[in-house]
Amino acid sequence: MEKTLIVANWKENLTATQMESWVAEFSIFNFQFSNETRVVICPSFVLISVLKSQVSSIQHQVYLGAQDVSKFEEGQYTGEVSAKMLKDFVSYVIIGHSERRKCFGETDGDVAKKSILALKHGLIPIVCVSNLEQVSKCQGVKVSKTIFAYEPLFAVGTGTPDTPENAQEFAEKIKSAVGQDVRVLYGGSVNAENVKSFVSQPDIDGVLVGQASLEAEEFGRIIKSLNH
Ligand code: PGA
Repeated sequence: MEKTLIVANWKENLTATQMESWVAEFSIFNFQFSNETRVVICPSFVLISVLKSQVSSIQHQVYLGAQDVSKFEEGQYTGEVSAKMLKDFVSYVIIGHSERRKCFGETDGDVAKKSILALKHGLIPIVCVSNLEQVSKCQGVKVSKTIFAYEPLFAVGTGTPDTPENAQEFAEKIKSAVGQDVRVLYGGSVNAENVKSFVSQPDIDGVLVGQASLEAEEFGRIIKSLNH
């Protein structure tokens, strides 16, 4: 059985020093981590390699992800980080987050290009979508190898999550549209109190957590609440 994914998206938060405290705090909790869950942490680019060396101090296996990737293979694209560079450090990459679409003008075409390059280099894309049209625009992307994260705009960073029933309905629609094997996460104001209501839905395979992942204790409580 596929593991439930709990993905932390730190966004533009946490300095190296703050991350060190986060790791120290996270590792001293005596959680009984279930074999059925997989934790993925997505810090900013500059923290990835440091976090990679620090996660060995965390008792259980933690996977790493990036928050974005270049749509270009390599070359004269100042400031960009390619999938080929990332693959030595991370297993996952978040693509097309609504903040990237809104603040940086990312288009469905960009999302498709990034996803294709990520898959080419062995990364698992976590493609964020807020409607079904965005799913259908993933043209040329091997969607069976892609994870979709349903993130309704009203729920991201607002403290007002969608209902588990709506999230389930959306996840079911994605699977009917692209295939039952595809994995679908829910994201938007997930916390330790509501996480279980989402992952207990039949078509929701995990969660993408922003704000509530910034405190090690709260994030730990999310993981813990899925163990019972
Ligand atoms: P939030 O963010 O948990 O703070 O709503 C989720 C996300 O943006 O992925």
